Amino acid sequence: MKPIIDLVAGARPNFMKLAPVLRAVQERNELEPRIVHTGQHYDHRMNDVFFEELGIPKPHVHLDVGSGSHGAQTARILERYETHVLKMSPAASVVFGDVNSTVACALAAVKLGIPIVHVEAGLRSFDRTMPEEINRLLTDAMADLLLVSEPSGLANLHREGVEESKVKFVGNVMIDTLVHELPFARESSILEKLNLAGRKYALMTMHRPSNVDDPEILRRLLEVTAELAENMPVVFPAHPRTRKSIERLGLSKGFFGNSDFVSIEPVPYRDNLSLIENARLVFTDSGGIQEETTFLKVPCLTLRENTERPVTVQKGTSRLVGNEPERIRGAFEDVLAGRWPAGEDIELWDGHASDRIAKELAVWMGI
Ligand code: UD1
Repeated sequence: MKPIIDLVAGARPNFMKLAPVLRAVQERNELEPRIVHTGQHYDHRMNDVFFEELGIPKPHVHLDVGSGSHGAQTARILERYETHVLKMSPAASVVFGDVNSTVACALAAVKLGIPIVHVEAGLRSFDRTMPEEINRLLTDAMADLLLVSEPSGLANLHREGVEESKVKFVGNVMIDTLVHELPFARESSILEKLNLAGRKYALMTMHRPSNVDDPEILRRLLEVTAELAENMPVVFPAHPRTRKSIERLGLSKGFFGNSDFVSIEPVPYRDNLSLIENARLVFTDSGGIQEETTFLKVPCLTLRENTERPVTVQKGTSRLVGNEPERIRGAFEDVLAGRWPAGEDIELWDGHASDRIAKELAVWMGI
């Protein structure tokens, strides 16, 4: 009998990270992976489309937790995952990234003595107002095997005193998925559908509470983007959280529909990749998109004051521009004037991080 390991996912960015790890573990055929879906994200466009496109099988277990306040959501996941672990006793629990599902399942597992593997360990924004930063710190404090995606992760864990033997630099699994999916993304017809083929355009995504929950900040961001859209079309796949905020504040009429500022529903993975690869520039507050633009060498205006992925700024194509219109305008002009770094290749962002992970897992589990 092969040892059972749980691969835990809950929210959109987890699915892109789980898919290549699952494939790599299945190829080695030493472990029995079980997919546990917490149900943190449940909309068809935030969830099912990724399972379908990325070829992830139906989860073995669905915890169906849905939305809620941070405390309520985390507690619900913790309780339901604990019940599952008690029933199935996996040999290890693999958690990804920094969402509420990550920390909640790690906490349930650690209390039951189940070893935890954290994929994307060691990232730090040093901003404890971000829910993700709390999730990262706590998950790393509980993990037994910490798999790191970029050099800053090694330095952070070292500084925090994590035992060196628990930490492995394996590279970036998000880039594994990108490399795997790029040929399919190049067949996407999203550019034609949006009338963007052959045109210069900008892509915008935002969903961080710090950008979309405060009416004044959100209004300011939409205003400056609408202004820039007069020079270059801006396409904006809006996260449900952002869409709800826009509707609640009655902002949708003022900005969309009469210009080249186009808001659309969240897009599937391959369409999104096609939109990134062909964009003249990207505005985003997403962690994953900072990495994807760096890999594809597309200028990225990161709508944040800090990043837990500093390599994208130091060696990649991202610049932190916050949410002040002046800085955003200035950076936009810099891109158009060619005052932007071309970007370097990043160490171990090569499409094979998951192979290294599967190997580390086998060694760690003594197989
Ligand atoms: C979560 C992650 C964030 C990640 C993002 C990607 C945490 C703390 N945050 O943020 O790190 O970058 O996912 O999308 O885990 N909603 C729906 N349908 C869904 C899911 C959410 O309508 O399928 C709405 C609900 O109103 C919900 C809100 O979005 O309350 C926020 O969802 P939640 O999962 O709490 O956090 P995200 O903002 O999506």
